[in-house]
Parts: sequence; C-alpha cells; structure tokens
Amino acid sequence: MGCFSWVIMIKDIGSLAINGGDKIRHRVMPPRQLFAEAELAAVRSVFFDSWAEGQDFGYQGKFENIYTQKFCEFQGGGYADAVSSGTAAVYIALQALQLRPGSSIAISPVTDPGAVSPIVLQGFKPVIVDSCIDSFNIDPEQLENVLVGNNNISAVVITHVGGWPTDIQSILAIAAKFDVHVIEDCSQSHGAMYERRRVGTFGNIAVFSTMYSKIHATGGCGGLVYTQDKWLYDRIRSFADRGKLFHLKGFDSRDPRTTEHAALNFNLDELSCAIGASTLDRLESTINARLVIAQKFDIAFEGSELVSPAHRLSTSSNVPAYYFYTARLDAAKLRTSKAEFCRAIEAEGIPLNAQYNYLAYEWPWLKPHLTQESSCSNARKFRDITFNIPFHEKYTDDEVKDIRDAVMKVESFFGSNS
Ligand SMILES: Cc1ncc(COP(=O)(O)O)c(C=O)c1O
Repeated sequence: MGCFSWVIMIKDIGSLAINGGDKIRHRVMPPRQLFAEAELAAVRSVFFDSWAEGQDFGYQGKFENIYTQKFCEFQGGGYADAVSSGTAAVYIALQALQLRPGSSIAISPVTDPGAVSPIVLQGFKPVIVDSCIDSFNIDPEQLENVLVGNNNISAVVITHVGGWPTDIQSILAIAAKFDVHVIEDCSQSHGAMYERRRVGTFGNIAVFSTMYSKIHATGGCGGLVYTQDKWLYDRIRSFADRGKLFHLKGFDSRDPRTTEHAALNFNLDELSCAIGASTLDRLESTINARLVIAQKFDIAFEGSELVSPAHRLSTSSNVPAYYFYTARLDAAKLRTSKAEFCRAIEAEGIPLNAQYNYLAYEWPWLKPHLTQESSCSNARKFRDITFNIPFHEKYTDDEVKDIRDAVMKVESFFGSNS
C-alpha cells in the first residue's frame, strides 16, 4: 500500500487519467467466475442421473430436494422452495400471505424494482418508509409512524441492503403491535447474521434472488422462498406452481381438476438447483472472503482525507454478508462534486457505482402507484454522500491497493489539503 508519497507529490492536474494522464490500473478487475468446475460437474450429474433413470430431468425432482434441504440447513431449519427469480419469490410470498385485497404494503426505501413490481401487479399500494440516518436500511421508528398513520397496511417488505442486516427485531416488535406480516428480502444479504441468526429467519417469509451476480447463485436467474411455517410453505409451493396442493395426501399433480386456485408457474429447473446446491457448499467461505476484503478496504482508507467506510462492524453478533462496499465522502473537504470525484476514480481504471439509483421514491414508473408522499431524506442524503465499490471474493490485495491508490491520487487534487 506504499505509493501514497509519490501520489501526493504529483500536482499536475493533467496526470489524472480523466485529463489524459496515465491511469493507476490498466487491467480489468478479476472475473468472479462463481460457476466453476464443481458447478459443471453438478450439471453433468443431472444429465447422468436422468440418463440412468431413463427420463429427462425437469423440476421439483431430487436436485431441488437436495438444494432446498441444504439451504434450510444453512439457515438453521425451516422450509424452502426454489423458484425462477427473486422477483417471482416476492410475488409468491405476497400471494401466500393472502393479504387483504387492495391493502397497502410498507416497503424499504432502497430496494430493487423486482421487490416492488409484484406489489403493484397484485393491486396492493406500496408505501415507502425512509431509512435510518447513515444507512440504506429501513428505519423502524419511521415504519411505526407510517403504521400509526395508515391502518390499511397489511405487510411490510424489508430489504437488507448491500449485505447489512436491518434492525429486524425492532421491525418484528412493531409489526406484531400493528398485526402486519413481515417479508424479509435477503437478495443482497445471503448468510448475513443478525443477533447470531441468519437473516431470513425472522419474518413470516423470506425471499432471495439467486441470480448470477448475487452472493449465492443458482445460475443465470433464480430465487428462493423460505419460511419456518409449514402452513405458509404449503401455500408457497401452491402459488409457485399453478395452485397445486402438494401437501394433500394422495394429491395427483397430473390431474388439473385438483388444483385449488389460479397461480403462475415459477418453478426453478433441476439444472439450476444442482448449481445452487454446489455453490451453497462454498457460501460460508464466500461470505468470509468478502468480509476480509471489506475489512481491507476499511484499513486502506484509513490514510484518506476524503473517503471512509460508510459502515463499521459494531458487534460480533451482527455480521454483514457484503454484497458491495459503501464508502463515504467528506463533502465539507471535497473541492469538486461527488460525480466528478467518482468519474476521476473510474478513469483510473476502478469500476464504481457512484450513484446508487435504487431509491424507490425516485422511480418515475412507481410514482403513479404511490398514495403517500415520501421524500426519503435520510436515504437520499446517505446516497448523496456515498458511493459503492462493487467487489467480490476473488479480489486480491492488488485490487485493494489499486483502489486505494486511485482514491489517494484523485483526492490529492480534490481534497482540502491539495
Ligand atoms: C433487494 C432485491 N430484491 C429483489 C430483487 C429481484 O431479484 P431477481 O433479479 O432475481 O428477480 C433483487 C435483484 O436482483 C434485489 O436486489
């Protein structure tokens, strides 16, 4: 990490890559390649198995059983259904809860359209709740205020953003007081711990995206619906597969006269389940590797005047599963805009997500569906003084050093000491 001294001696603004100077990093960042030999072997095993059985593979077979059982072991018990995407998982969770038609659903301020579209498509009204100060995660106090002012809310969908667990115990206490259901969206936080328990084990239902770039993935696209309630699990399976009543004794899935209600087909196929079972074996080490790298970022920014970690590990019982790393900028010392600062770092060969545009209240398509005004000032302020560094478990000390050197180089021109 020792190139700070030469960096600050260069005072020619032309040396910044954004102005045509040589950049800090010339190589692209290492590819993640989560899907490796083990996953290829897992896919082959589905083929070999189907050939041995004399039947083509499909869905809801033995590979889904293996996968969902392993996943439940990872979570410490419960029931899981593998489905086609995180969006589908939210869609199914809402249906399984059998919420009051037309009721409102409180949602996190920062989330993915995939967590909100199912609400709108099912005729519910999303109500956005702001985040805690200095966080993208929903503020329990503000949730309570919203619930006091709106007695039509039947559920809350909580997103654990970027791998950082929400204060889920406070959310549960408030939800119980107002008799609303809790769906935990763990799509960005697989395996994160809150009070020594995995996220997803607190709410009535948890949903996970398992698409390729997530911490845990089943292939290109995929998802999981998880619960600890057997009755809900039976509903989930039914809503994930055309209203079939798998839990009934003697149920014949080939007889369409026995299905109970209209529902879509959101099954995940056996190939994806085999991939999921394989990557799940490495999930714990994946999470740990990401944690170690994030801690290296924390240390790397210690010498920075402008950039610091946006979050710090506060307790050993709450452990994030880093999806991305959020860095904070000291706006008072910055002598340019955040956008310009981030562009200069990117020009040095460092990919960033400078402006996290996942604040739901800003999405034009969602505005006509909102019945309550929400400006999410905490979430916006936090977004406006932070930027996200995408990374994964294959980053080495070289990548951490290049990122740090790029930050130091750029801040030597734009900091108050420059
Ligand atoms: C928090 C969150 N919820 C839901 C989704 C939707 O998942 P999918 O892309 O698998 O449909 C995503 C993202 O991909 C997400 O990040």
